[in-house]
Amino acid sequence: MSQQLLARNASMLEAYNTTKYGAMFLDDALEFMAEYFTESSVDLIVTSPPFGLVRKKKYGNVDADEYLKWFKPFGLEFKRILKPSGSLVIDIGGAWIPGQPTRSLYHYELAIMLSKKIGFYLAQEFFWWNPAKLPTPAEWVTVRRIRAKDAVDCIWWFSPTPWPKASNRRVLAPYSNSMRGLLKKGYRPKLRPSGHDISAKFSVDNGAAIPANLIAVPNTESNSYYLRYCRKHGLPPHPARFPAAIPEFFIRMLTDPGDLVLGPFAGSCVTGEVCERLRRRWICVEVVEEYLKGALGRFEKGAHPKQESLFSADTSREQGWYKVFHPALLWNGREEPLLSDGGKTRILNRVKK
Ligand SMILES: C[S@@+](CC[C@H](N)C(=O)[O-])C[C@H]1O[C@@H](n2cnc3c(N)ncnc32)[C@H](O)[C@@H]1O
Repeated sequence: MSQQLLARNASMLEAYNTTKYGAMFLDDALEFMAEYFTESSVDLIVTSPPFGLVRKKKYGNVDADEYLKWFKPFGLEFKRILKPSGSLVIDIGGAWIPGQPTRSLYHYELAIMLSKKIGFYLAQEFFWWNPAKLPTPAEWVTVRRIRAKDAVDCIWWFSPTPWPKASNRRVLAPYSNSMRGLLKKGYRPKLRPSGHDISAKFSVDNGAAIPANLIAVPNTESNSYYLRYCRKHGLPPHPARFPAAIPEFFIRMLTDPGDLVLGPFAGSCVTGEVCERLRRRWICVEVVEEYLKGALGRFEKGAHPKQESLFSADTSREQGWYKVFHPALLWNGREEPLLSDGGKTRILNRVKK
């Protein structure tokens, strides 16, 4: 299988595991790409690289400041091996500056480097909202109460040309109840106060809505086949997995069955699992063997259900929706005076009057 996937030096290669559509490799992704991929051979790279987190995680994140230097050679390889019609999708969480309630700019700097120094185009930025995210960092959010909960990751969608192949028809969303009502009652074309001309076409029922660039998925997997497999074999589950719906959104939108998808920082190989289900060819590369041992569980017989999509939201009752409160809903209360030092002095147990 690995020989069919790779164009270069494939005969020298030993896969950690192969499946019907793909293969996983235990290797450094940078060396692997340089050794085995010819240029313009990959349709999609979808990945969550190690983040430049302030508090280092077990799998060896680099410091935020070092991040760009570390990432650049990967960016250059990504550009080389992607087809002109291909895409690079990077899920990247933000980071806080140690000891103060301000944010690192590293993930924005990464986006700027990929565009200005490496020549990628920003096809679109997406935001992954994790509604189940805990309020952290506790010191700024729950103790001093001076920052909001940080619950979105940026997802940068880059392309080597301005015209990556893509269709939003592949990732449609169900209509909301209000839109359904509007379609039923009809809509009178008019000019909005904003100047937008809402034509009669707006009231045509296309069966589903065009998705926004906000993807709402909780990261709350607790009893999956993968986790049970890890428990059974005494393996640590990967500590920074993304939910399958994240790679799945982009794999559906940006590739056709049979296309080649690369997960260069594969972790537990979620990307491979999704590709297998969607009949895309795939390669996952991960440098820590323990994570690949666990990933094997994703490809055991019976590991995932037969149906292509794991979710079937009952669109008629708005199941599977996440609602966000309108910000003004609780704006009628008392206005606690703001601290003039911005909360720098730590005051605990402030008595509520
Ligand atoms: C954020 S995790 C990816 C998790 C993955 N998306 C999942 O859902 O399981 C990043 C992974 O990149 C791996 N990694 C770091 N440097 C690497 C390299 N040079 N080559 C291959 N993998 C690497 C880490 O070991 C870690 O498992």
